[in-house]
Amino acid sequence: MWKWVCHIGALVVAASAAACTRAPAPEVYAPGLGEVMTLQQMRHTKLWLAGQAGNWPLAAYELDELGEGFDDVIKFHPTHKDSPVAPKDLIPRMITQRLADLRDTVTKEDRDRFVQGYDALTGACNNCHQAMNFGFNRVQRPESNPYPNQAFAPAP
Ligand code: HEC
Repeated sequence: MWKWVCHIGALVVAASAAACTRAPAPEVYAPGLGEVMTLQQMRHTKLWLAGQAGNWPLAAYELDELGEGFDDVIKFHPTHKDSPVAPKDLIPRMITQRLADLRDTVTKEDRDRFVQGYDALTGACNNCHQAMNFGFNRVQRPESNPYPNQAFAPAP
């Protein structure tokens, strides 16, 4: 966005001379939806690895991060391009309860229910992609660990 910034010239011509330049208004960085989603992808992967390792504090952390990522989606992208449905409506409907259910399994350290909850969340991610006409973006349980420099086992 541009705004006009005017400097009054020399005193003698102050009444008439105003030198105007175009200066950019300060821009606030807003992450693109695809960028937030790339972070969500990482957190979704780490959540699985943490759950598989029985590292419940790390799983709880990744759940918080996922929640914050979805808050950012609602804040920065309440609607998206010409999608027929809006993230601000879809997230409360599809995601919020799934995250709460998963948090419960993490609190109870229940590995079996964690796996069920994880698959349910993954299904909700994909349902949203389909609803927004991005169904070609499909997520799944990670097949391997892409983070060789992070310890997923619980701290000794
Ligand atoms: C509000 C609906 C919605 C939800 C919920 C959602 N996504 Fe997305 N996701 C999108 C949209 C829309 C795009 C395409 C964004 C764009 O235009 O770049 C996308 C893109 C992606 C991409 C592709 C990113 C890239 O650039 O390669 C991944 C990966 C992804 N989402 C993962 C997830 C995961 C994991 C979850 C669940 C934890 C999730 N998404 C939940 C709407 C959603």
